[in-house]
Amino acid sequence: MEIIILPDSDAIGDLAGDAVTALLDRKPGAVLGLATGSSPLPVYDNLAARYDAGDVSFAQARAFTLDEYVGLDAGHPERYANVIHKEFTSRVDFEPGSVQGPNGLATDIPAACQSYEEAIHAAGGVDLQILGIGTDGHIAFNEPGSSLASRTRIKTLTRQTRIDNARFFDDDLDQVPTQCLTQGLATIMEARHIVLVATGQNKAEAVHQLAEGGVSALWPATILQHHPHVSVLVDEAAAGRLQLANYYRQTYAAKPVWQGL
Ligand code: GLP
Repeated sequence: MEIIILPDSDAIGDLAGDAVTALLDRKPGAVLGLATGSSPLPVYDNLAARYDAGDVSFAQARAFTLDEYVGLDAGHPERYANVIHKEFTSRVDFEPGSVQGPNGLATDIPAACQSYEEAIHAAGGVDLQILGIGTDGHIAFNEPGSSLASRTRIKTLTRQTRIDNARFFDDDLDQVPTQCLTQGLATIMEARHIVLVATGQNKAEAVHQLAEGGVSALWPATILQHHPHVSVLVDEAAAGRLQLANYYRQTYAAKPVWQGL
């Protein structure tokens, strides 16, 4: 796991944008994993700017989102399928139908979860997964207690996650759904490269646990310690509790340029 401490979210967006652009240069039909939440927005802004400048194309790429609320109607603005369309995929040149997410409106939820796993597999798996992290260490919607071997399934959101996300629902906790569909931890672990972004002091404990805590279902992101290629991009505030922060800084400063992320 590589920890990179950067000055601000623009620098995070730029470095993650470099990694996505380099991937699409060498593999135009790459499969991207997309996360919702506020943390990846600088990455999407950076990629949209590169697309506007003619520096990257998503025309042959495909994408899979991580998770979805259960029960929000198709037109609801906070449905993750609509959020990712608005925040990113509609701003670049993905072909219609090339971006998929779990179906939170399915009548047969287990079948929808199974077919989502099969769709990711049929696409050849995710080449680069963009991830955020919740304040309680969740990734996607794998809340504390999630099986480290979990696959796409229905989950109940913790009260903390619903409180954290109430800002997207008029600050009204009652409007935040209680259930979601989410890629499992084992599903996410199959991505070839994971780029996790975190900013702000409220993520500092989760980032510390992610990189330096014991691997545990209590902090689901810690499973990433078992992944061979994870890049964690954080600002100074999110790095505030890292015990080895100086070592990470020295390592990144000495990193050979050719290595990329
Ligand atoms: C939600 C999403 C996660 C995201 C998390 C943190 O729970 N399902 O994918 O990582 O929020 O969001 P934010 O980046 O807005 O703090």
